This record gives sequence, C-alpha cells and structure tokens, in this order.
Amino acid sequence: MSKGKLKVGVLVSGSGSNLQALIDACAAPDHPAEIVLVLSNRPGVRALDRAKAASIPSVVFDHKNYADRAGFDADMQQALDEAGVEFICLAGFMRLLTTAFVEHWSGRMINIHPSLLPSFKGLNVQQRAIDAGARFAGCTVHFVTPEMDVGPIIQQAVVPIHDDDTGDTLAARILVQEHNIYPACLRWVAEGRVRIEGERVFLDGATVPDAALLNPSLEKSD
Ligand code: GRF
Repeated sequence: MSKGKLKVGVLVSGSGSNLQALIDACAAPDHPAEIVLVLSNRPGVRALDRAKAASIPSVVFDHKNYADRAGFDADMQQALDEAGVEFICLAGFMRLLTTAFVEHWSGRMINIHPSLLPSFKGLNVQQRAIDAGARFAGCTVHFVTPEMDVGPIIQQAVVPIHDDDTGDTLAARILVQEHNIYPACLRWVAEGRVRIEGERVFLDGATVPDAALLNPSLEKSD
C-alpha cells in the first residue's frame, strides 16, 4: 500500500514569501507533502492571495474578534482537524499560541525564525544582531515548543553581516536562505527522516559540512 502525502497546514500573518517557497516545493509531483490549508489571523494579507493563486483553501480567524487566545486556538484547531491537517508549518505567524495547542501538535509543528537560535529570539532580530556586533546572522527551522522561538533545531543557514548592512538589507539576504531551508526541512520531515532526541534533531542521511566560515575572511599572504 502506498503511503499518501503528508497533509500540511500553514499558519501565516503577512507577506507569505515562505508560504510561497513551500507551495513551490510541494508542487513537485514527487514531493511527499501537500498543503491542504492556509490559515491567517489577519484578513487581506498577501499570503492569502498566494494560497488562492495556488488553489489552496484558506481561512481567516481575525484575532481581534476573540476575547482570549484559547478561543482563537480552538477555532484554528477545528479548522485544521476538518481539513485533515497532520503537520503544521508556522510561516511568519505573529500570534503566540496557547500551551495546550502547542502540546497537541508537539513534534508535528515547525517554525522558521530569522536568527541563529538560540540567539536573538523575538522581534527585530536582524537589526539586533547588527547592533550587537555579531559577524554572522542567519535563520533557523525548529520544532515548536511552548516557549517562543525555542525548540529542537532541524537546520540553520548562516548569513555573514556586512559592514554597511541595515536591518532591511540583512533581512533580505536572510530571507533568501529561509526560502531554501524551510522547504528542505518540510521534505525531510515528510520523508520520515527527522528524529528528535531531547533538544537535538538528527536527520537520517544528512550531509554535515566540515568547513568553517570566517567573517572577515583571512587575507591571503603571498
Ligand atoms: C520571516 O522572516 C520569518 O522568518 C519570520 O517572519 C518572516 C515572514 O516572512 N518568522 P514571510 O511572510 O514568509 O514573507
């Protein structure tokens, strides 16, 4: 019996460029995951247009209409269940989730964050990395646990910080890498190759690089 594709729900709040990267990756006929629902807490965002253009059902639960997080999460849960969602990708989703919701999806929900976690959790992280004098920034795909921007890390991409970087220029270069690693991580998960052991994640058949990155690079002496 052939196993079906992993049914994925993507939670968004904004532009949805990571959603687009996931949509594009899942469009490959051999991709082991399919996006069955896009869920937004904000009406009218570009991510919803992207879902529509890809003929993916979407639903909006405007958080402003809810008195508490529990009610909001319960409605999301119902929509996810009705769509048969088995796995969640948070893609620029800007709402804190209740512990009950996160625990229900434990090991079945991942997030992308534009820093090298565990450094720079929260907001405005690209500018904060520059201001802290860091030489490298980057992005992280991790499993979601109740604490924000914490959880076993699947993959990271390192992006050097340039002397003339602003938060925006650095964010743009990090975003390019986000679009690489998020679809890769979803594929690995859907292929059943990702194993969580405590705080660590192991990927069957992973290629681990030896080379270190230096910033600035060493100068060549002839
Ligand atoms: C990305 O930088 C992501 O890492 C962060 O929010 C941003 C969302 O961008 N969590 P987009 O909506 O995917 O374009």
